[in-house]
Amino acid sequence: MVFEQIATGGCQSYLIGCDKTCVAALIDPELSQIDHYLALATRDGVRIRYLIDTHTHADHFSATKELARQLDVPVVMHRASPAPFVDMRIGDGEMVVLGKLRLQALHTPGHTADSMCLRVEDRVFTGDTLLIGGTGRTDLPSGNPEALYDSLFNRLLHLDPALQVYPAHDYKGRSHSTIADEIATNPRLQKRDRGEFVEMMRSLNLTMPTHITEALRTNMSGGKTVASLLAEATSAVPFMSLGELRSRVEAAEDDLIVLDVRERDAYEGGHIPGARLLPRGQLELRVNQDLPDPTRRILACCELGYISTLAAATLRSMGFTRAVALDGGMKAWREVGYPLNTGKEP
Ligand SMILES: [Fe+2]
Repeated sequence: MVFEQIATGGCQSYLIGCDKTCVAALIDPELSQIDHYLALATRDGVRIRYLIDTHTHADHFSATKELARQLDVPVVMHRASPAPFVDMRIGDGEMVVLGKLRLQALHTPGHTADSMCLRVEDRVFTGDTLLIGGTGRTDLPSGNPEALYDSLFNRLLHLDPALQVYPAHDYKGRSHSTIADEIATNPRLQKRDRGEFVEMMRSLNLTMPTHITEALRTNMSGGKTVASLLAEATSAVPFMSLGELRSRVEAAEDDLIVLDVRERDAYEGGHIPGARLLPRGQLELRVNQDLPDPTRRILACCELGYISTLAAATLRSMGFTRAVALDGGMKAWREVGYPLNTGKEP
């Protein structure tokens, strides 16, 4: 068996593959690790055939949709998943065939309604149903403590006690445990009465995960994260450093149009000498009138360097093939004490 465990903060993802047939699946991949997963699969000599999420994640950005696009392979989730981009919905007891390996799904609702565990040979991927020394929380959308009790005490904990447990989270750097260890030592599993367990889960009062709104929005819809939008724009445009721009501004290079894409009040408060104002919100509407020559070199700048990157990518997509973005923004420009003009005039 090919097996890799990849941690991203407290989130765990897994590459599991059949070494006889060289096919593999990724379980709970995270968006920032895409290149890492692909490199591991190459190093291990396997081809990724399935992308599996054990449930709708509320605390990290799933990579399944983006990897499905890149690799042209199916996204697999439990049939209760709300995500419209799932290609293969599976039900309790069904299996994903991976060469000689069989990944068997157990529907274990509770943390979410679409949670499932995957049993493969000597191990079980428990998602957020069972963690090492913990369980998934039940206070996020579609969570249900009664269902979690049933999934744990009437399903998962009846599996072979020797099975190795690989969860979707571990915040203490532990890689795995066993069903027997969890039954013996997991504090959440010591309340074996249904009512007491439910009461305990209801009284946890956990803080909300950071990025929960964005994680649920993107994981449930397949939409892009703000970071992905920026990364795409960044990869599509060249940049110019603050120092390089300053020397070109001082040399009064005719060729270069500096385009300040902030709002008017910010522009009038202090802009790069010679910069023209064209707020990002008006870019597409005013571009034909303000920038009639698409062959000109245009440098976009903004306050922090993010919006100008999006503006430069938009300009490139509109045919301004020499559009670049400032590496940094006006905040950094001011901080290093480079020259500024104030008022309406460039
Ligand atoms: Fe989760």
